Amino acid sequence: MHEKIPYSLNDVFPDTNLPGKVYLFVSNHYILYKNKDDQIEGERYEKFQMKNMKFIFIDEDEYDEFDAWTIKIKGKDESDVYQHFLDNEVGDKAKLAIDLKENMATYFAFDLDDEQLDNLESQTRELVTAAKENSNLEKALISMENHRRSIVDHSLNVANLTVFLCLNMGYNQITMLETAYLGGLLHDYGKTKINNEILDLSPTSAKYLSAMEKHPILGSTSFMLNSDFSNEVQRIIIEHHERYDGTGFPHRLKGKKIYPLTTIVGMANYFDNLLALDTGHIKERRRRAVRRLELEANRSFEPQMTFKAVGHLRRIFG
Ligand SMILES: [Fe+2]
Ligand SMILES: [Fe+2]
Repeated sequence: MHEKIPYSLNDVFPDTNLPGKVYLFVSNHYILYKNKDDQIEGERYEKFQMKNMKFIFIDEDEYDEFDAWTIKIKGKDESDVYQHFLDNEVGDKAKLAIDLKENMATYFAFDLDDEQLDNLESQTRELVTAAKENSNLEKALISMENHRRSIVDHSLNVANLTVFLCLNMGYNQITMLETAYLGGLLHDYGKTKINNEILDLSPTSAKYLSAMEKHPILGSTSFMLNSDFSNEVQRIIIEHHERYDGTGFPHRLKGKKIYPLTTIVGMANYFDNLLALDTGHIKERRRRAVRRLELEANRSFEPQMTFKAVGHLRRIFG
């Protein structure tokens, strides 16, 4: 086993391929957080700084690689760093970069206390292990990543938040959690069937909107014939833009016609999209997103579930 040593967060760069493994020290043990060539997302990096985190941990025998990496990047101007990032991203395409490493415990690592993290880890270990062994899921994540990296990042956020909400809202039976987790991971799979030129258009343009209306159906039909994803998972995919008041799409389902786990994925999706579109400090963005979600009770989402979710989000995100 390798000895772990601290490495200053100031010498680590977000959105840039890492020269070796990075660990976090959580609940008195090291959690493998990133592998070589993975990246620490900007938003996560910002969160580490916000928590006054000074160090990440690395394997002692990889210190030289980290040191050379820091010197190399610090010596360059910003445009070069950006180019470096682009080069690596293209080279990395076929790799399942996320690899489900960002499991529940690392996603919430700095929002929950040690005991809560331990609980979360033990409650979700089975779920994450099963997901890692699901070859259909792996294929789906690779095609999402190859199509557009941001779809995978968003999907993982949504899946993690979904499971957290499920556990807190009483949906803690393993098959339900599995359904919700897979639904969260795959809810936007249909976007891989939409041309990237269209995905790059303004989100208010008619062409973008009409393509977007199709992604729930495109996603669920992709899995109808040749996958072992359950009907419930497919239901979450097709329903995740349906709205409680019947104004959603594609089928304008209303009220109780919407599957409860879809509502949870829908709320997590709504929350993560608001965070991504907003600007400013992550803490403020989260507060605003929670407030906006609360206003959707009775409109977009079933009211009791919305209030419960808002309560739990407030508790961890302040
Ligand atoms: Fe969507
Ligand atoms: Fe989404």
